[in-house]
Amino acid sequence: MSDARKTVFVKTYGCQMNVYDSDRMTDALLPSGYDVTETIEGADLVILNTCHIREKAAEKVYSELGRIRKLKEAREAQGGSMMIGVAGCVAQAEGEEIVRRSPVVDLVFGPQSYHKLPDLIDKAKDTRGLVDTDFPVEDKFAALPKPDKKLTQARGSTAFLTVQEGCDKFCAFCVVPYTRGAEVSRSVAQIQAEAQALVEAGVREITLLGQNVNAWHGEGQDGREWGLGELLHHLADIEGLERLRYTTSHPGDMDDALIDAHGSLDKLMPYLHLPVQSGSDAILKAMNRRHTREDYFRLVDRIRSVRDDIALSGDFIVGFPGETDQDFEDTLDLVRRVTYAQAYSFKYSPRPGTPAADSEEQVPEDVKSERLYRLQDLLKEQQAAFNQSCLGREMDLLLERPGRMDGQLVGRSPWLQAVQVEAPQSLIGQIARVRIDKVGNNSLFASLTDTPVWAHSEISEQDSQAERSLVEH
Ligand code: SAH
Ligand code: SF4
Ligand code: F3S
Repeated sequence: MSDARKTVFVKTYGCQMNVYDSDRMTDALLPSGYDVTETIEGADLVILNTCHIREKAAEKVYSELGRIRKLKEAREAQGGSMMIGVAGCVAQAEGEEIVRRSPVVDLVFGPQSYHKLPDLIDKAKDTRGLVDTDFPVEDKFAALPKPDKKLTQARGSTAFLTVQEGCDKFCAFCVVPYTRGAEVSRSVAQIQAEAQALVEAGVREITLLGQNVNAWHGEGQDGREWGLGELLHHLADIEGLERLRYTTSHPGDMDDALIDAHGSLDKLMPYLHLPVQSGSDAILKAMNRRHTREDYFRLVDRIRSVRDDIALSGDFIVGFPGETDQDFEDTLDLVRRVTYAQAYSFKYSPRPGTPAADSEEQVPEDVKSERLYRLQDLLKEQQAAFNQSCLGREMDLLLERPGRMDGQLVGRSPWLQAVQVEAPQSLIGQIARVRIDKVGNNSLFASLTDTPVWAHSEISEQDSQAERSLVEH
């Protein structure tokens, strides 16, 4: 009965795993009568899927809750209702504290509970301020429905697929092992079934996700223990799947099979997010990263030896406790030697419960700011140089959605750059060959080459016509 249906608005903070989780929540809510809405005002259910990684990320939630409280009160004044749920890593880390600080919240649930969401919503109707942050023994992935076909189509031609969750590394600055729990790998069969369902719904590119995705391991179909390299080979056999990526990797878990997959798998995109955090051995040790800067250089050389056009991205923390000027110079030196196509960098943020937060060698805020500024300057320069090197180059784009101007589409390059191209809407979801004509500050501009698109994709012309009508309807 359509008039009995309700709406859910989900706001996602943090990493790609949260994006994936938000989609699984809306998938799980669909059978209980909730359709997704993009506007918060009229929503019956509002979920904030939160991130605890840095203090700023966590604090955002409380300011957003203040804003939502007003919407809820306005709704109630008109005789309606609005249920508010807080999910994700702040929910896991702070639990009851959220309801204490923000009594407007009806429901708090951690990343291991979202398959129970329909049930929790029912319970929260009677018990306002319900908190569920258990790490249940049951396999939440097995309890979740397969990605919904219609919702998947609406989400476009790229998708995330979580293959691994949690982390056992315990870097001294990081909350993830506490908010996401111990490292768990999903089975090959589960991953294969989900990937297949995504491709059947029109997905052309899948990014495998995990807090430590390259720690994934599981029993393969040949009875042997597989790592991520073998898994990627297996998934590359799925017909209609054109591109594979994975993120985020720990340098210590890049095994030979995974490195070699970059040399032998055409579908594996030549772009790798490989965070190093610092270029100083003393700081790497204090961070408990379990590798040295030389280990990282050797690894990068090895990866580039199997695929010379691979581009790297990274994460960096400046101002970790005890970081000296020389330690920071070592980070700049590492960046100059490695060269990144893209990178994320942050000021160290002490997180409650993590070992580094208690250190007495905290770096003053103004020193952190100055270091971040210098590092970002260098990283920006490298990113601009990488983009500039693409000028005049031909490459394949996966055309994802309408662009900024009429008649334009936005596509992703193999190196994850956003590229604007003049192309008809009917090509959305297709891979097209383009030439880069112009390099702007935030995106690249390209034109289609003369070669017909279907000549570059493994699907036949007839299939691609069918695909187009699928996307258009
Ligand atoms: N699993 C990934 C990173 C997950 S968190 C890895 O092992 O690299 C994403 C990024 O946030 C990290 O790479 C790190 O650069 C940053 N980060 C994590 N904790 C932080 C903290 N306490 N302060 C500042 N940045 C932090
Ligand atoms: Fe956090 Fe990544 Fe370190 Fe795990 S490996 S503790 S997720 S930074
Ligand atoms: Fe944030 Fe949790 Fe991801 S802390 S970065 S949302 S794993």
